[in-house]
Amino acid sequence: MIEKLYCPDCHRTYSVDSVRWRCDCGSPLDLEFEPKFPIKKILQRGPTLWRYRETIPILRDNSILSMGEGFTPLEEIELNGHRVFLKMDYLFPTGSYKDRGAAVLISKVRELGIKKVVEDSSGNAGSAIAAYCAKAAIGCEIYVPLSTSSGKLVQIQAYGATLKMVEGSRERTAEVAMEAASRTYYASHCWNPFFLHGTKTFAFEIYEQMGWKTPDTLVLPVGHGTLFLGAYIGFKELKEAGEIKRIPRLVGIQSAACAPLYQALKKGWRETLPIDKKETIAEGISIAKPVRGKQILEVIKETDGEVLTVTEKEIGVALREMGRKGHFIEPTSAATIAGLKKYLKKKNVKEIVVSTLTGMGLKAAGKIFK
Ligand SMILES: Cc1ncc(COP(=O)(O)O)c(C=O)c1O
Ligand SMILES: [Zn+2]
Repeated sequence: MIEKLYCPDCHRTYSVDSVRWRCDCGSPLDLEFEPKFPIKKILQRGPTLWRYRETIPILRDNSILSMGEGFTPLEEIELNGHRVFLKMDYLFPTGSYKDRGAAVLISKVRELGIKKVVEDSSGNAGSAIAAYCAKAAIGCEIYVPLSTSSGKLVQIQAYGATLKMVEGSRERTAEVAMEAASRTYYASHCWNPFFLHGTKTFAFEIYEQMGWKTPDTLVLPVGHGTLFLGAYIGFKELKEAGEIKRIPRLVGIQSAACAPLYQALKKGWRETLPIDKKETIAEGISIAKPVRGKQILEVIKETDGEVLTVTEKEIGVALREMGRKGHFIEPTSAATIAGLKKYLKKKNVKEIVVSTLTGMGLKAAGKIFK
């Protein structure tokens, strides 16, 4: 199959060489691509996400940019009397799971011969894109809200990217970056499907680390849903390849201060509508209008999933609790754990549940201290 960009809304297709970042109809684009799972070959390779090489849509090996990322530990812990598995995705080179997406997307950017990119982010995706651009000497401009944690601002600059701080909301930051994207390639983690074909390796690693078995449920943070949708794509590819029979139930966690997906589900909407968001310490999921909101809602419906919300107080409690277990994570990741605790309490059944710690606490040390 020839790789193509594909619109899930109006079914138009475009070449992958195209520098466009959305369909003419306005929808985000997906990637049509046929992955393969040669298990024997996979087992002979090193412990990085590139061991699933035949699932990653990069044509030439010499385009690959890697810092040995991926194959993060899957640790079994006890939480409120339940055994659960946590994927340690804060142990990536830039301190968050966003390296999964950035490694693949910026390898593609390199393959396409692009010399400069723009991206907007709450800080972690920006750091990841900046790091991989640095490695490939690709110019990089990162737009972030003024309120972003200082650790992430310093990190982006350390990689030599041009940092643009935007006054106002995360949504205003995206508008300014989109304007810049009319002149420069948009390496957006929310819009660009190559990012999702990096985050999908989360699913392959879980499948392999659980002894080539599927968990019953995944509990994941969801802002723009790049991990949530990536996990879905990964398990869907495994299902289509005949490796597994069922895609796990996908449960999303949002902050009660900013929960557009929770509200859409409650009201039975097929798309998210703009909401009035409040301040939350979980800056990574402070997303009022997820770019792929419609897709996220469809995945929740298809997998019999749901969205749970957590309060600022519950986030604080989970942050401290995880610290006492030896994991210093950022508040966005603590929100996931607070949601996981709610899910376990609500269900109280013997499901095999996998969740994740997505970001390193040092990035938000200032905010945590306050
Ligand atoms: C640490 C961390 N976890 C989770 C998320 C949520 O990712 P997404 O917006 O793609 O759902 C983010 C996003 O910035 C993040 O930084
Ligand atoms: Zn379209």
